[in-house]
Order: sequence, then C-alpha cells, then structure tokens
Amino acid sequence: MTSKNSILTISGACKEYKTYYFLPHIFSRPTSFPALDNVSLSLHQGEILGIIGESGSGKTTLGKSIINLNKLTRGTISLFGRDVTGFSQRKFRPLRKSIQMIFQDLDAALNPNMKIKNILQDIYHSHHQGSKSDSEKQIINILESVYLNESILEKYPTELSGGQKRRVSIAGVLLVGPKIIIADEPTSGLDAHVQRLIMHLLLKLQSLNKLSMVLISHDLSLIQEMCQRIIVMYQGSIVETGTKDEIFQNTAHPYTQQLVNAQLQNISQYQEHSRHLKQNHGNTKLIKPTQGCMFSPHCSRYLLLGKPEICTSKPSTLSKLSFSPTHNVKCYFPL
Ligand SMILES: Nc1ncnc2c1ncn2[C@@H]1O[C@H](COP(=O)(O)OP(=O)(O)OP(=O)(O)O)[C@@H](O)[C@H]1O
Ligand SMILES: [Mg+2]
Repeated sequence: MTSKNSILTISGACKEYKTYYFLPHIFSRPTSFPALDNVSLSLHQGEILGIIGESGSGKTTLGKSIINLNKLTRGTISLFGRDVTGFSQRKFRPLRKSIQMIFQDLDAALNPNMKIKNILQDIYHSHHQGSKSDSEKQIINILESVYLNESILEKYPTELSGGQKRRVSIAGVLLVGPKIIIADEPTSGLDAHVQRLIMHLLLKLQSLNKLSMVLISHDLSLIQEMCQRIIVMYQGSIVETGTKDEIFQNTAHPYTQQLVNAQLQNISQYQEHSRHLKQNHGNTKLIKPTQGCMFSPHCSRYLLLGKPEICTSKPSTLSKLSFSPTHNVKCYFPL
C-alpha cells in the first residue's frame, strides 16, 4: 500500500500490550495482547484519510505510534520518505513541527497547572523563532479561527468546557503549522455548528495543499464529508480499505456493513454490535476465535453461509477486489 507521493507509510505495524491478570508481580506472567496486528497504510500529500472502527479497535494506538508516542513491537514507519522506526524522542523532536496529533484524551493534552496563554505560548516558542508580540498576535488569530474568545487565555484548562478544551488543543496544533495532522476524534464534544466551522477550516488548509490528515472518528457522516479514502479497523487489524463510495455504497466486509447500518439507524456502534450478538448467539458472551477471522462469531454472513470452516481455520489477508484497484477487503466471502 505504498506509493510514490505518500508522505507517511506504515508497513506491517504490530503493537502488543502486556496485560496482567493481577498486579505486575514476579509470580504473575503477563500475557500479550495485540492492539495492532500487521497494519499497513499510506497517506498521500494533501489527502484526508479516514479511520473508523468500534471502540478498542486500535485507532488511537495507531495514531500514537505514528507520532512516536508508542513504540511498535514490529513493523516500520516512514515519514516524508525517511524511515523513523524506533527513533528516540530526541531524534524524533525535529519532526514534531511537521507532524502533530489532536489528542482524543484532552486531559492528557493540556497541562492543568498552566494558563491557556502559557500553554499556547510554550507551543509557539518551541516551534518558531518569533518574539513575544509575534506569538501573541499569532495566538489571537488562531483562537479566532477556532471560534474562541481571547478572554480564554487567562483561564486554566479545568475552567473550560469539553468543547472549549477541544478547540484549545486544535489551536495548539494549528499554531505549530504541521504538514500532517493525526486528528483523533477532533470534533467530539463540539456542538454541530462549531464542528462544521472547524472542519471547514481544516478542509480549507487541505485544499491549499498545506495539510494532509489522518482523521479518526466514530462519526461516519463526518468521515463521509471529509475523507477521500477510508480504512476500517476491527480488533487491531485493517478489514477493509477503499474510496468513500466503495466503503459506504459498495461495502464489502460484513463488519463495515454493521458499522454503516448502525449509522443509518442512528444507533451507537456498540448497541448495534450487542444487537447482532444477541440475535446470532442469544447472549453477549464472546467466543474469541484463536485463528481465522476474529469477526466470525459476530458475522451474520458467516451464519447465513452455514459457518464455512475456512473462516475460522485460516487467517484471511487483505486482498484487492477484482473489479476495483482501490478496494481491499479481508474476508473470504465479501458482500
Ligand atoms: N497503554 C495501554 N496498555 C494496555 N492496553 C492498552 C493501552 N492503550 C490501549 N490499550 C488497549 O488497546 C486496545 C486498543 O485501544 P485504542 O485506544 O487504540 O482503541 P480505539 O480504537 O482508539 O478506541 P476508542 O474508539 O474507544 O477511542 C484496547 O483494547 C485498549 O484497552
Ligand atoms: Mg481512541
């Protein structure tokens, strides 16, 4: 999935977290849990690439791995044509001007002991040479662009609403002026009007060819509006990739279909997942397959086709659908 004009390429990324049944302890052995399993993708110059998938599917883990906040267990990452796999924080620091993340977890992103003014000034001065008055002007301009009043500068993060904090963190990222933004649920907590205005701002930057973005969101209508290509993740793996129309109009993976249906019926993906489980298995206790397709216990198509053995015995790989050069699916019996 690499191409000549890709500015970010990930190949075979795996991330294993260690989990303990009891507290870490010399007698308790950790078990490894794969949060990312052989993920490969590329982001092209000027593109907005969407990533969707239910809670826990590995989206944030992937985003943090891209900006070097998570070390991959296996796989490689290249940024602007340079292999950055395994870079130390110090070696990666100069790249932070070019790649930034809008964090899903706002409390981790904003230091509660600093006024917004100081947080934004620190960000400005760690990436730009300008004077104090340059930074003040720039900060006020950026605050305006995210529809925040400058009175917010004297406040602490704990005095702000979720939506205000979200916009301060977006302002911080824009202040750096990166070429790539990893935006992890950037509009959650914003009212519909402000969400639209901020997305237009990001689209404007993208159309000026100043920005490429990986947009992670549960909001499928936002993904449809903003993204040219979309990746669908399930339990740490990519199960489908394609253009917006391929994913939403010619859905190939039963899991994607479940996500899209949940959106059409305006119910949460979690509710849809539980509904399917109840319908198919009578209860919500999961039987996790040890091999083959992880989605098979929840897959209505698998049941419909009489539980084909191959689905649970042999891992499927992401393969191109014969009639499209851009549509890939990881399923033996795509829709
Ligand atoms: N630091 C960590 N240590 C151990 N497990 C972790 C850690 N961070 C994430 N995980 C686990 O990895 C899996 C993927 O988490 P991740 O946050 O990437 O999911 P997500 O797709 O971003 O979910 P959401 O949509 O809820 O934000 C989850 O099962 C989560 O519990
Ligand atoms: Mg997340």
